[in-house]
Amino acid sequence: MRDEFTWGVATSAYQIEGGVAEDGRGETIWDRFTHTPGRVIDGATGDVACDHYHRWEEDVALMRELGVDGYRFSIAWARVLPEGTGDVNQAGVDFYDRLIDALLDAGITPYPTLYHWDLPQALEDGGGWRSRDTVGAFAEYADAITKRLGDRVSTWITHNEPWVAAFVGHLEGAHAPGLTDWGAALTAAHHLLVSHGEAAAVIRQNVPNSRVGIALDCRPSYPATDSAADAGAHRHFDGFRNRWFFDPVFGRGYPDDMVAAYRDRGRIGPGTPEFIQPGDMDLIGAPIDFLGINYYTSLPISAGADETEDTGIMPGVTVPDGFTEMGWPITPAALTGFLQRVHREYDPPSIFITENGASFSDGPGPEGTVDDQRRIDYLAAHVAAVAAAAESGVPVDGYFAWSLLDNLEWSLGFTQRFGLVWVDHDTGRRVPKASFDWYRERIAR
Ligand code: FCB
Repeated sequence: MRDEFTWGVATSAYQIEGGVAEDGRGETIWDRFTHTPGRVIDGATGDVACDHYHRWEEDVALMRELGVDGYRFSIAWARVLPEGTGDVNQAGVDFYDRLIDALLDAGITPYPTLYHWDLPQALEDGGGWRSRDTVGAFAEYADAITKRLGDRVSTWITHNEPWVAAFVGHLEGAHAPGLTDWGAALTAAHHLLVSHGEAAAVIRQNVPNSRVGIALDCRPSYPATDSAADAGAHRHFDGFRNRWFFDPVFGRGYPDDMVAAYRDRGRIGPGTPEFIQPGDMDLIGAPIDFLGINYYTSLPISAGADETEDTGIMPGVTVPDGFTEMGWPITPAALTGFLQRVHREYDPPSIFITENGASFSDGPGPEGTVDDQRRIDYLAAHVAAVAAAAESGVPVDGYFAWSLLDNLEWSLGFTQRFGLVWVDHDTGRRVPKASFDWYRERIAR
């Protein structure tokens, strides 16, 4: 690992903050979605979540105890600009202002993400990410927040997992805003990417010595068999899930094979896709200072299921060895391979693992302690996979474990626990797990 390696933990605003109606925060698409019956598996909402909005000092103390160098969190756009654009809500900014000061006092570098899926509902009402206007609104938000925090924060992540925001939100319908439409998903994906480019330029202007990146999720998968049909399905899946984002961010535009495939299937019209305006691809492909990679699993891909990933295990069901409770196979070697591929094919100047972690529901035993050996095994294997990539020459500069706290896992509500710290969702009580101690020792080493 490089000398200045950053060890961190990650969270996101809607998953932990609560305080949704406090200090002038506006409504977001996730408030609307979780309050729509049937959308969240256990009916949970982010109204209180981990109550981090009130317990943030306790959470910073936990991170200080853990000994992390960095904390990746997200800023809720609707706390800063309740309607998405317009007047800045100073009370909302103040929350992040206090958090950042406390982090710096604790010797922890803040790694804020501007967008972790919680679009202000007012913007959704105007077409959300399907509308080009949201790109301008995002640049306005980036400007407002970096003008206020950029004196103390130099590292900024524009977006978290635009694939999920676009395709789980607008094609699968399992995330807010809950649409199921190819055209909407592809248009949203493009606008998310353009807004990354616009925000990156704004951040560079407002923040001295800024470092700007984006956190992309990945599924470095493989053909289920050596048949030509599975190889083709895998290539298509890789295009859908990985290359559609990695290629344009690194200045190559959208992959030709995928544009052709989407055209053949009637998902975009003939000629240049209708959502692309002149200059967009240059904006999206402007150099970044680092790439964030969120990694959880890798899957076998079979012909006939080219754009779905059905891992076949329902939340709450006992999982076989080799899987997490998300039903995701545990595949650390694929992380090494993917990092090497990204280095070879895209050559980012620096890479951070901005998320990696495992869902296991182990809670306090009779002694009150949480023995989550399976999470320790998962994290140890993935940290080793990152080290292997680094040893082979990949410029990996940090690793952020997902997550500090058991939190609201989106439409899976509180049924999944990814935390190093167990959270009692009725009282907010926090109990560091065995994995917390393991990670503290790993960082200290
Ligand atoms: C990622 C998300 C994060 C969390 C983990 C488990 O896709 O970025 O918020 O839900 O998965």
